[in-house]
Amino acid sequence: MAILPRFLLAAFFFLSASADVQTNVTNNPADKLVAVINTNRTAQKLSSLYDNPGLACIALQYIRAYQGDCSAVGGPNAKKPADSEFAETFAPSCGVQVASLSPITGRFLGCQSKYVHAAEAFSILVNNNKSLDILYDKNHTEVGAAVTGTDGGSPYFWCVLFSNGKSNSSFVFEDGVAKITRPGCFSGANDECSHANYLSQPGHLWLYAVTSFIAVGYIFGI
Ligand SMILES: *[C@@H]1O[C@H](CO)[C@@H](O)[C@H](O)[C@H]1NC(C)=O
Ligand SMILES: *[C@@H]1O[C@H](CO)[C@@H](O)[C@H](O)[C@H]1NC(C)=O
Ligand SMILES: *[C@@H]1O[C@H](CO)[C@@H](O)[C@H](O)[C@H]1NC(C)=O
Ligand SMILES: *[C@@H]1O[C@H](CO)[C@@H](O)[C@H](O)[C@H]1NC(C)=O
Ligand SMILES: *[C@@H]1O[C@H](CO)[C@@H](O)[C@H](O)[C@H]1NC(C)=O
Repeated sequence: MAILPRFLLAAFFFLSASADVQTNVTNNPADKLVAVINTNRTAQKLSSLYDNPGLACIALQYIRAYQGDCSAVGGPNAKKPADSEFAETFAPSCGVQVASLSPITGRFLGCQSKYVHAAEAFSILVNNNKSLDILYDKNHTEVGAAVTGTDGGSPYFWCVLFSNGKSNSSFVFEDGVAKITRPGCFSGANDECSHANYLSQPGHLWLYAVTSFIAVGYIFGI
C-alpha cells in the first residue's frame, strides 16, 4: 500500500472487448473527465470508451454511498459499497434497469477538500502503475464519471466506473431518458452541470474549501 499525498483513491476489478466513439462534451466536469480519459487512451492507441449516462449515474450513487466521508475512501477506515448495492440501491435510484447491469471492469474513486478541474483530477487519480493499468485495460468498452461536492461544498468526490458492457444494452434507463439528480454531476447525459449547479452556496464556501485543504490518501490494490 503506497501513500499518495492529497487524495484518496481506490481502484479495482475484471473483464473483455473493444471500441466506441462519442462526441458531446458539455459544460460538465464529469464529461470533461471522460474526455481526458479518452484522449489519454487514444494516445496509447487504445479504444475511446463510450460515455454511458446510466453507468455515470451509478457512479454518482456510488459517491453518495460514502455520505461525504472522505476517510472512508482510503486509509484505515476504508470502506467499499457492497456489490449488491448496485442492484439494490444504485440502479433503482438512477432508474436504470437492474437486468441491464454489466460487470464493472475498473473503478477510480477520489476525495479531497479542494475542488480541482478535470485534467488535474485525472492526473491525481491516475498517477501510478496500478491506476495506469486500470486506465489502459483493453477490456473496458464504456465509462461513466461523476463529481460531487457534499452538501454543496467540500469535500469533493470524483468517481469513474469502467465496464465491458455493450453500449446500447447496458445500464439502460427504464424510460430511455437519463434521470438527472442534483447535487452532483455525471457524464454522458448532455447535461450542463457546472459548479453553480452543485455548489448550493457558491462563493464563500468555495473559498473556504480551497483554503482549508487537508487530506491524506492511499491507493489500495485488489
Ligand atoms: C480481460 O478479460 C480477459 C477475459 O475475460 C481476462 O482473462 C483478463 O484477465 C482481463 N484483463 C484484465 C486486465 O482485467
Ligand atoms: C449533442 O448535443 C446536442 C445538443 O444538446 C444534441 O442535439 C445531440 O444529439 C448530442 N449528440 C450526441 C451524440 O449525443
Ligand atoms: C496519460 O496519463 C498519464 C497519467 O496521468 C500521464 O503520465 C501521461 O502523460 C498521459 N498521456 C498523455 C498523452 O497525455
Ligand atoms: C512502473 O512501470 C514502469 C514502466 O513499466 C517501471 O519502470 C516502474 O518500475 C514501475 N514502478 C513500480 C513502482 O512498479
Ligand atoms: C446494439 O449494438 C449491437 C452491436 O454494436 C448491434 O448489433 C445491435 O443491433 C444494437 N442494438 C440496438 C437496439 O441498437
